[in-house]
Formats: sequence, structure tokens, C-alpha cells
Amino acid sequence: MRMIATIKDVKAEVKKAKQEGKSIGFVPTMGFLHEGHLSLIKKAREENDFVVVSIFVNPIQFDVKEDLESYPRDLDRDCKLVEAAAVDVLFIPSMEALYPEGYSTYVEVTGDMTKQLCGKSRNGHFKGVTTVVLKLFNIITPDHAYFGQKDAQQVAVIKKMVEDMNMDVEIVPCDIVREKDGLALSSRNVLLQDKERQDATILSKSLLKAKEMIIKGERDAAKIRASIIENLYKIEKAQIDYVEVVNAKTLESIEKVKGEILIAVAVKIGKPRLIDNIQMHIS
Ligand code: PAJ
Repeated sequence: MRMIATIKDVKAEVKKAKQEGKSIGFVPTMGFLHEGHLSLIKKAREENDFVVVSIFVNPIQFDVKEDLESYPRDLDRDCKLVEAAAVDVLFIPSMEALYPEGYSTYVEVTGDMTKQLCGKSRNGHFKGVTTVVLKLFNIITPDHAYFGQKDAQQVAVIKKMVEDMNMDVEIVPCDIVREKDGLALSSRNVLLQDKERQDATILSKSLLKAKEMIIKGERDAAKIRASIIENLYKIEKAQIDYVEVVNAKTLESIEKVKGEILIAVAVKIGKPRLIDNIQMHIS
């Protein structure tokens, strides 16, 4: 594996691989890797000849400075994990490389898609995500890019950007990886105190109950939402940010559960704000 910090060098490596006829798989991350990230890398490794993983804690997608500062980091450990996953290139650009002085170009998916759900409380977050992902796509020029469904809104927003900007990359969504007790893996989980860690399972539990309701025939989105909220409030410390039932592609709110749907929740438990979701297809 080659560890590369400059844009020029990573472009040269990718160019060489392309000249050899290799397909390029790309997994963008912010590091502090866990099994969720590794599942994306594994899939990229299986489906491509040449795999690039990036680690960059992107400051422009953090609306709260505190969150950026407390974002967990461990580059040594990450390098070992990426190396063990047989990745070809680990790209670790510096702040100055991606946002040199005078940087002034941003790309934004406008409208409800980025204003709802996480976009409501995280002002400018998705603009930061699409800007850095577009930059990384331009640098790596991947054939396939891998994203976790854990951040379902991020997947939908990036798909929309790729479609609207006529880009050639295929976005590959990957399943959510969970702890045994159902908690979705997240770099932020380390910020949970003991009791909060137990309480955090309420997110996946309440989503599972919603799924059962739908399987049993419930189609009223308001009732499903109400049931999730009731379950979440069983945890004293839970501060609900949102509970939404939406169309999985457009992220528009729905009244009746039908077609490809996404049920998404965001809840603050102690310090970290946790998100989780389920997707279902209802014919
Ligand atoms: P980060 O939070 O590091 O996540 C990198 C990728 O790992 C994302 O696609 C995310 O959805 C995926 N992921 C995280 N937890 C997962 C889990 N439990 N199961 C499956 N996949 C999981 O998302 C970002 O970084 C950034 O916004 C980024 C796209 C890198 C742009 O800065």
C-alpha cells in the first residue's frame, strides 16, 4: 500500500492504474475507522482492480466547531487497518492541499433534500460534504465510489449531485454495520458514557418496532412516527432531533407508506448526536 499526501502524486498513481486498464474503486472517509468503514473497503476491494481510501476530516462539513475539535482521530491505527484490507493507495491530503488560501468554490444540492432531516439542524453540512466529495472525485476519478446507508441522506444527496452534474462515477450504497445489540457503528460512539451506550440501543430498537408495524400492515406514516417517538422517549436522556418517514430517493415526507421508503432518526444521547435508519420496499 502507498500512503500519499499530495494531489499530484495520487493523480499519477491513478493514471498509471488506468493505463493498465484497471477499474478504480474509492472509499472516502474521515478516519477513526471501524467495521462499518471496513465493510465499504472490503466491497470496493472485491469489485475493483485498484482501491483508493481517503482520510480527511473535512472542516467545512462541521457546523459546530466543538464537534470538529472533538472528532476522534487515530491515524496510526487507521493505516494498519487500511493496509490489512489490501488497499492500493491511502490518500491523506492536508487542509492546505484541499483548501488552499483563497479557496472559494462550493457545490451544493439545493432544495428540501438538503434542508430536511440532518440538514435542518446542521446548517451547511451537506454543502461541505458535496464540495469535498466532488473535489475527491475529481482527484481520484473513480469508476465506483462506496458509501454507507448509515448516512442515508448523504447517499441520496451525493447520488443527486452525480446525476445533476453528469458525472461518470457509480455510487454504491452499502448496508449498515451494527454492534451485536443493534447500535449502528459510528466514530462518535466512543463519546458515549457507560449508561448512554446502553440507552443508545433505543434508536435501532424503535426502528425495528416500526418495521414490525409496517410488516403487520400499518401504512399511516404519522402513526409509525408517533410510535418511534414514544419509544425514544423511554430514555430519559434522549433529545430527539428528528424522526421522519420519507421517500428514500427524494427524501420528501410521505403520508402513506408505499414504494421505496426511508425511516430516519437523529437523537442526542449525552454528548453525541446519533443517527440511524431503515429502508424498506413496500409494494
Ligand atoms: P465518515 O463518517 O468517516 O464515513 C465514511 C463512510 O463510512 C460513509 O460512507 C459512511 O456512511 C460509512 N459508514 C459509517 N458508519 C457506517 C456503518 N455503521 N455501516 C456502514 N457504513 C458506515 O461520511 C463521511 O465520513 C464524510 O461525510 C465523507 C463522505 C468522507 C465526506 O467528508
